Amino acid sequence: MKITIGQKYDAEMILVFKGKGSEDHENILSRLSEKNLFKGEEGEVFSLVNMETGRSQIFLGIGEEDQADEEILRLAAFKGAKELSRLKISEASVKLTKLPNLCYRKSTKAFAEGLYHAEYRFDQYLSKKQEFSLAEVSFDLLPGKEEKVLPGLKEIEHLMDGIFLTRNLINEPAISLTPEVLAQAAKSELEPLGIEVEILDRAECEALGMKAFLAVAKGSTNEPRGIIMRYRGGNDEAPVGLVGKGVTFDTGGYSIKPGPSMITMNGDMGGSGAVIGAMKAIALNKLEKNVTAVVLATDNMISGDAFVPGDIIGSMAGKTIEIHTTDAEGRLTLADAVYYIIKKEGVKEVVDVATLTGACVVALGEFNTGAFTNNEELLGKIRAAAKEAGEPVWQLPLSKEYHKLIKGDRGDLKNSGGRWGGASTAAAFIEAFVEDTPWVHLDIAGTSDIAGARGYLPKGATGMPVKTLYYYVKGENKGGC
Ligand code: BES
Ligand code: MN
Ligand code: ZN
Repeated sequence: MKITIGQKYDAEMILVFKGKGSEDHENILSRLSEKNLFKGEEGEVFSLVNMETGRSQIFLGIGEEDQADEEILRLAAFKGAKELSRLKISEASVKLTKLPNLCYRKSTKAFAEGLYHAEYRFDQYLSKKQEFSLAEVSFDLLPGKEEKVLPGLKEIEHLMDGIFLTRNLINEPAISLTPEVLAQAAKSELEPLGIEVEILDRAECEALGMKAFLAVAKGSTNEPRGIIMRYRGGNDEAPVGLVGKGVTFDTGGYSIKPGPSMITMNGDMGGSGAVIGAMKAIALNKLEKNVTAVVLATDNMISGDAFVPGDIIGSMAGKTIEIHTTDAEGRLTLADAVYYIIKKEGVKEVVDVATLTGACVVALGEFNTGAFTNNEELLGKIRAAAKEAGEPVWQLPLSKEYHKLIKGDRGDLKNSGGRWGGASTAAAFIEAFVEDTPWVHLDIAGTSDIAGARGYLPKGATGMPVKTLYYYVKGENKGGC
C-alpha cells in the first residue's frame, strides 16, 4: 500500500468523534446514531457502500474529541484498512482533521502507522495466500501542512519496515532460523544501509572468553554466532549500546520445558529481532547518532555435549556461575553480551531487550514490557520513547535483596534465584555484568509474541519494542512535535 497526498477516490474513510459527528455528514450520522447503528465510539466502524455509483463511506469512530490520542488513531486506521480489504476496495481517501490534544504531524503519523499495521501477513508457508490488498490511501491534509507532514510519513514508513523485519524474524520457525541464518539476515538487511555487520564464529567467541554464552551453545549442532552491528550516523561521541537476546530455540535444555511452554520458543530470539529491526529503522531514517548492537545467537538444545544442572561455568567478565537450571539460559548469553559491548565496543549506555522470564508475563501479562534499571535517568528516556511509541513499559524493582538471591555457593553467582521475584532476580543477574554503566533491561517475554491478535497487533510477533528503541536513539523527545 502506498500513502499519497490529495487524491480523491470514490471510497472515503471518515473520522467521527462521539457526539460531535462530522460537519460534512451531519444527516447520515444523526440517523445512524438515532438507530444505534453508529455513534462514533472509539473503535467503531460502519460502512455505506453504494454498488451502483461505486461510492463508499467508511465511518471510523474515534470517541470523545478531547480524549483522542495516537493509539486511537492507529486503531481507527487499522480498522478502516481492514474494512476496505473486506469490501475489496483498493483505493480510498481520508480527510485528516486536527485533534485538540495532538499535533497534526503526530496524528497523521499515527494514522499512517495504523494503515501499515493492517498490511502485515506472515504467509510464506501458506499454499493459499490472501490475494486482495489495499493499493493506496490518499490523505486530504489541512491546507499548507504538507511540508510539515511528509517527513513524518516517510519516517513511519521506514519504522514499519523495521517492525515487519522484526516480526518476520520472530515468526520464522527454528528449523529455518538458525543462529547462522539470523546472522546472515542481519548482514543482508543492514549492510546495504551502511551498517557494519561483523559475525563471530564459535572460535572467535571462545578467544574473547565468552564462556557463559558458549556453555549454552555447547549442546547444539547449529553453530553459535556473535552478531555485531555498528551504525555511525553521528559525530565521534560514544555509541549507544543495544543488546538483544538471540536464543533461536529454547527447549530448556536438560531442565526441559513441558510441551505447551516449548511450542512458542522459536520466538526466544525476540530481543535480537527487535534490535535488528530497530537498527534497520535507524539507518533508513538516517538518524544522526552512533549505535552499536550486539546479539549472541544460539539455541538451547539437548545432546551428549550439552551443559547440565550443577555445572560451574565461567564468563567473559571472569565471574563463575553455578547452573541451577539450564532453562535460565538467556541471562547467560546476555551476561557475556553486555560485558562485551561495554568493554570492547565502548558504549556509553546499554539497553538490553530479552524474552527473559515467564515471571514477567505472570506479573504484567502481554500488555506491558517489564523495565529494570540501575539509572533512573536512562529509564526516563526509555519511558518517554515508549510513550511516543505506544508500547507500554512498567518498571519492576531491582535492589540488593534480589542480588542476594543469586549469590552463588560454589561459584560467584547462580543462574536462578528461585521462583519468587523471578523477573527481578534475572535482571539482577544481568546487572552484575553491567556494573556501573547506565543500563536498562527490557523483559519482553509477554509483549514480543502474543497468543491472539489485539488492537492493531497481529497474533504472533508484535514487533515490540522496535519503536521504543528507535525513539530512544532518536532522542530530543520534548513531548512536542
Ligand atoms: N525464554 C524463557 C522465558 C519465556 C517464558 C519467554 C515465556 C517467553 C515466554 C527463558 O529462557 C526461561 O526459560 N526462563 C525461565 C527461568 C527460570 C528457569 C529461572 C522461566 O521464566 O521459567
Ligand atoms: Mn529458558
Ligand atoms: Zn529462553
